[in-house]
Order: sequence, then C-alpha cells, then structure tokens
Amino acid sequence: MRVFVTRKIPDIGLQMLRSYCELDVWEYETPPSKTQIIDRARNCEGLVTLLSDPIDREVIESLSRLRVISQYAVGFDNIDIEAATSRGIVVTNTPGVLTETTADLTWALILAASRRIAEADRYVRTGMWRVAWGPESFLGIDVHGATLGIIGMGRIGTAVARRACGFGMRVLCFSRHSSSRDKTVEQLGVTPVDLDTLLRESDIVTIHLPLTAETRGMIGEQELRKMKPRAVLVNTSRGAVIDEAALVRVMEEGHLHAAALDVFACEPIAMNSRLLALPNVVLTPHIGSASYATRAMMAKMCASNLIAVLKGEIPNNIVNPTVINNR
Ligand code: GLV
Ligand code: GLV
Repeated sequence: MRVFVTRKIPDIGLQMLRSYCELDVWEYETPPSKTQIIDRARNCEGLVTLLSDPIDREVIESLSRLRVISQYAVGFDNIDIEAATSRGIVVTNTPGVLTETTADLTWALILAASRRIAEADRYVRTGMWRVAWGPESFLGIDVHGATLGIIGMGRIGTAVARRACGFGMRVLCFSRHSSSRDKTVEQLGVTPVDLDTLLRESDIVTIHLPLTAETRGMIGEQELRKMKPRAVLVNTSRGAVIDEAALVRVMEEGHLHAAALDVFACEPIAMNSRLLALPNVVLTPHIGSASYATRAMMAKMCASNLIAVLKGEIPNNIVNPTVINNR
C-alpha cells in the first residue's frame, strides 16, 4: 500500500505508517500545490492531509486508487466530503485529542486581549516604557466576573466553558444544534441564548464553530456592531466565520476593546492586512492544537485511522460514515 503525506507530521505517526505502508512524505515546509498533490499521490491508496491542502473534487477524481484521506486536524473544510463519499473514499479526522489544548489557547487569547498583553510586551521590548508605574496605563477589561459568550458549544466550546468557572463568570452559549450536549451545558451552569442576546450581553465573545456554508461569514458587520463597544472577540476556530473586512472596519472606528485571532480567512495572513495595523488585535499563526503532546497524539490518531481503512477495518474517527454503510 502506498501513502502520500503532504507534510512532515510528528515521527511517531510516520513510524506507525511506515510499518504498514510504503511512505512518501512531502519534504518541504511550503505545502504542495494541487498539481503537486495529484502528481505525488497518483498511485496511492492513502493520503494524509493538512487543513492547508485543498482536497477538492478535481484532486479526488484524479486519484483513482485512493481509499482513504486521513486529515491531521479536527476540521476538514479543506476537503470536498461529498466528492470523496461519491468515490467511496473514507475521510477521517482527529477529534477529541486537541480539545483541551485548543481551549487552553483560547484562554491565553482571552486573557491576552482583555489585559493587552501583546501590546504591553511590545511596549517594554521597544523601549517605550520610560516612566515608572502608570496609574492609567494599559487599562484593560476584567475577565473575572465578566459575561462570556461562547458561539458553538461542541467539544472545544464546552472545554472553554469549563475553564470559565475559576473566573467566576456568567457564561452564555449559542449552539446551532442543541442536542446531546444540553445536559453538560446545564451542569456547567451555562445559559443557552439566541445569537443576538449573546452578542449584546457578552463582554467576551469566543467562536468555536466549524467552517460550513452555514457558518461562513456568520459574524458580519451587523453582528459585530451588536457587541458591546468594550467587548473582546476571540476566534480559534476558522477565520472565514468572521467577515474580516467588517471586523477591520468596526475596529478602525474604535468599536471593541480588543480582538484575538488564531485563524484567518487566508493563511498565512497577507502582510498588508489592515488587522496588522490595529494594536489591540492579538494575532497568532493557527496554533490552537500546537502542544508537543497533542500534536503527537494527533499523529498517532491520524496514522491509526489511515491504517484501519487500508486493513478493511472501520476507523475510530470517520467523517463520512455513509461511505461504509453504502458498501
Ligand atoms: C485545527 O484547526 C484543526 O482543525 O485541527
Ligand atoms: C500594583 O502593583 C499595586 O501594588 O497596586
């Protein structure tokens, strides 16, 4: 069995894959283009992909031997699932293992944005700190006792809510699909509300949604203007959920205390993006799951999902289960 891996993932995963398949690993830091993916994976039964790889219908239909796409991420909006399903290709992902690590980063960003950590660090580092303790310098908003609004109450949203307890917060959530998690929400003392109420009442809004046709651009100018003028907006999910141009516009007008973004509509962010000129926006390069332990677990999970499919078994983390039911 031949497998193409579109970027070097942690060794533990590569070793597992090597023990079962003939492995070809993309050797550069820059991701392969569509043509390069098609070229290198042409004779492969398995493909390991990253969220930066555009696995669209054209790629899928060009890879006639392909049986499995194992995504090294929980999100899979870069893959045309329908196209894969129609060709009988199993798509797997890495949910669960990165939940707590991403919730940790979300809290790092909530605190950084609220208390202006990145801005203060730049101030010290660049020699701007010339007078001692300033009675009114770097004033931020209090996180403790604030109202936290969580948009998307899945695994990560729930893990973020759990951490809010220590800060004595009132927690609101908006979930598009209220379901099995209702009980957890209740146990955590989180109040489900509509999006409008969440935006109007929260001091800190954090987004935990997958990118779908329904969520793309969901937080646009109207939604942003409903937020409190001193509110904080955090996004560690997918950049395109927010209308970035609208965010720039409202923040340039002085709306919102701060924003913290780990994800962008286009990654890497363009160096001429006006977001970069806003001192009260904290920017990180899509590092939600980036801890040593979590990336190693993702690599293992990604390898075992792929191997299971090639062995004819049902993988633990399948995105398109109908592909198996239809066999
Ligand atoms: C990261 O963004 C992921 O989807 O795992
Ligand atoms: C701050 O350092 C204080 O002592 O109030």
